Amino acid sequence: MSKREEVLRKQDKYLFPSVFAYYTEPLVIERGKGLYVYDTDDRAYLDFFGGILTIIAGHCNDRIVDVLIDQVRKLQHVSTLFPTIPQVELAERLASITPGRLQKCFFSNSGTEANETAIQIARAYTGQQEIIALRHSYSGRSALAISLTANSAWKTSTCGIPGIVHAPSAYCYRCPFEKSYPECNIVCARDLEELIQTATSGQVAAFIAEPIQGVGGFITPPKEYFSIVAEIVRSHGGIFISDEVQTGFGRTGGKWFGIEHWGVQPDVITAAKGMGNGVPVGATIATPEVADSLKGLTISTFGGNPVTARTAMATIDFIESENLLENARVVGDYLCEHLKELQERYPIIGNVRGMGLMQGVELVKDRETKQPAKDELNRLMDLTKDNGLIIGKGGLYGNVIRISPALTCTKREVDEAIRIMDLSFKQLR
Ligand SMILES: Cc1ncc(COP(=O)(O)O)c(C=O)c1O
Repeated sequence: MSKREEVLRKQDKYLFPSVFAYYTEPLVIERGKGLYVYDTDDRAYLDFFGGILTIIAGHCNDRIVDVLIDQVRKLQHVSTLFPTIPQVELAERLASITPGRLQKCFFSNSGTEANETAIQIARAYTGQQEIIALRHSYSGRSALAISLTANSAWKTSTCGIPGIVHAPSAYCYRCPFEKSYPECNIVCARDLEELIQTATSGQVAAFIAEPIQGVGGFITPPKEYFSIVAEIVRSHGGIFISDEVQTGFGRTGGKWFGIEHWGVQPDVITAAKGMGNGVPVGATIATPEVADSLKGLTISTFGGNPVTARTAMATIDFIESENLLENARVVGDYLCEHLKELQERYPIIGNVRGMGLMQGVELVKDRETKQPAKDELNRLMDLTKDNGLIIGKGGLYGNVIRISPALTCTKREVDEAIRIMDLSFKQLR
């Protein structure tokens, strides 16, 4: 039995079947370096998904790994009962790169926990309970996060926690109001007022949204959207939580956090994924008054762990010293241009959207009816994999390609990815 077959046999036998794998023939990855990962036969694949937008500074980045190893040898764990240098330094650093008055951090291990904490502090601060989330959103896998999530495929085995309503998403390609931008007057944002008045008691604690909806298929709202919704939610006493689990740390190009593109200052930002370039870390960063409102005790055993905190710090240092915010903007624009060229050649590409190195490509059977091309995307992914490229998948209908390479990505690597996508689209015909 080959190494690969052995892994797949054990996966089948010892893991929950809900831990699903991409591809008809799952890919077993054994090592990674930079923009590439290698399977058990040492075949190279250009990784344009980065372990779900998490490898932000390249696989096994030497500078980050050195810091991690150094910290493991020095001090691995003491818990938050003891203040540590890595935890306070990371918190200070996050306070300096997050927009507006976000100054205080609570560290955890994942995006799910970061969002849990955000909702907890929103309720404590406002004294109100109800939460508005967005359709097509993904917030994580706890009972609360599943309830916030609005994509049926991810709402496994829960009847949901009460007190959450879902506003329409600013999904221009499939406008829920069947309008077109900009004549629509951003009706999806303005609808929030009526939603609050009709579907809640008016006691809104928070509006939580991803600047670009990740799992939802890189849905990118128009530029006016967030200022309108933030104003409405604040007029009802609620706060605005920006879930930057996918969009944080330069992913969207030019800015540290996605929401900065919309010129709106959130009251809370949640982060994870790219923050640690692959180590499990989550953070909830809030204004002092929101953070201070949480009374009583709370703890995350591994939150702010010296190893993950220093790794996150090294990741931020690397992004800054290599000017990766700018690289993500320039290379992201280049990638977007080339995806749009593919769109001209392949009618199956209905829409290209995104920012920086977070680009989505929505596949449709017919550009008029926009019928989702889900099976076609599954076949395309098998083809791109066989041709040496990893891309991601998302969207309510499973028909959106998600492209999110590490921010170290060069134009040459984009050329190679586009060449493989072009070849794979040709083979799909
Ligand atoms: C926007 C967003 N928020 C939260 C989460 C949950 O993060 P985690 O899987 O680290 O719990 C995810 C995960 O994909 C996400 O995309």
